[in-house]
Amino acid sequence: MGFLTFGFLGLLTAAFVTETPMFVFFTAAYPFLYLGNLFVRHKRLASAQPWPVNEKIVLITGASSGIGQSLAHVFAKRGATLILCARREDMLSSVANECRELNSSVKVLTVKCDVTDESDVARLVETIETTYGRLDCLALNAGVSMGEDFAELKDYSVIKKVMDVNYYGCTNVTYKALPLLKKNKKSRILVTNSISGILALPSRSGYAAAKFAVRGFFDSLQAELWKDEIFITLAYPGPVKTEINKNRLGDDPKQLDFTNAITSEECAQELVEGVLRGDKEVIFTRNGKLGRLMEGVFPDLTAYLVDRNARKHLNK
Ligand SMILES: NC(=O)c1ccc[n+]([C@@H]2O[C@H](COP(=O)([O-])OP(=O)(O)OC[C@H]3O[C@@H](n4cnc5c(N)ncnc54)[C@H](OP(=O)(O)O)[C@@H]3O)[C@@H](O)[C@H]2O)c1
Ligand SMILES: *[C@@H]1O[C@H](CO)[C@@H](O)[C@H](O)[C@H]1NC(C)=O
Ligand SMILES: *[C@@H]1O[C@H](CO)[C@@H](O)[C@H](O)[C@H]1NC(C)=O
Repeated sequence: MGFLTFGFLGLLTAAFVTETPMFVFFTAAYPFLYLGNLFVRHKRLASAQPWPVNEKIVLITGASSGIGQSLAHVFAKRGATLILCARREDMLSSVANECRELNSSVKVLTVKCDVTDESDVARLVETIETTYGRLDCLALNAGVSMGEDFAELKDYSVIKKVMDVNYYGCTNVTYKALPLLKKNKKSRILVTNSISGILALPSRSGYAAAKFAVRGFFDSLQAELWKDEIFITLAYPGPVKTEINKNRLGDDPKQLDFTNAITSEECAQELVEGVLRGDKEVIFTRNGKLGRLMEGVFPDLTAYLVDRNARKHLNK
């Protein structure tokens, strides 16, 4: 207790020395703001219940590999009815079979769909409408990354393609699926964002842009959809062992170092728990949580640490 008081007084003194009134206020008010946040969070999570997942219809985009494939597994184990979409049909059918093996009474539908293709997206949503007439959870997971510094980019179209899949892919599907999501109370939208949607890492300018865009879009949409009781969960994973390196766009992109990466099953497990609770966000890794806290208060130090750390973790 003495240590805590000492630490707190130390922080306050430091805050006064910096002479920035907002910072002083923030430091002094921190415990109260923290409690206020807990209270609002509690209210949100309480109103998100009940949501019995085994009665729910869940659409997962980018379900043919990686995190999407694992999301399908986790939802299947819990008995949700699944619609899986991606471009590679053969991989989708094997994922569907894996789901049926995990729970033999689970219903799984696969739909070939490129999320950047307007007619594909329209057909996907029509299929769900005619088959089930509603949708309870939209998991927006399809994504691609890049791995080159902007000045060294030979193929500029990478910037546009990354935005098409990661940003427009999400907004297009959401636009068409919203009427179906509104047919039931307490529907969910899960977005697989990334730590790159919080801290802008080097060699991923277009990816960071798309992930920041996604964050802004869905925070705004959440504000609009309170009245419909739709709960949006933004997930910010750190490194996850998937095919994302193999699928990286561009000429000879730098690869993400997977040494400290978690498995896609571990990631998906946390995402589904977040969705069931109705979390506003699920942030992974110590750096993600700390970075989120620090970016607003210590922007220069945070940018310096992010750059130094990221360069260490990008392999040629
Ligand atoms: N791995 C990581 O370290 C990490 C960290 C943070 C966030 N994320 C995010 O996690 C999400 C999933 O990535 P992953 O790591 O699981 O990589 P992945 O194994 O490459 O999976 C990407 C999935 O997206 C699908 N996809 C790509 N373009 C598509 C399109 N135009 N239309 C429809 N589906 C498309 C792919 O299927 P098809 O090729 O068959 O279409 C595949 O199923 C992405 O949004 C990524 O940004 C990954
Ligand atoms: C398997 O799926 C069914 C159908 O949705 C569900 O009722 C059941 O609870 C699931 N099994 C497990 C072990 O969750
Ligand atoms: C969907 O996204 C693509 C870009 O990826 C865009 O060209 C198209 O016009 C978008 N709109 C709709 C309604 O699908």
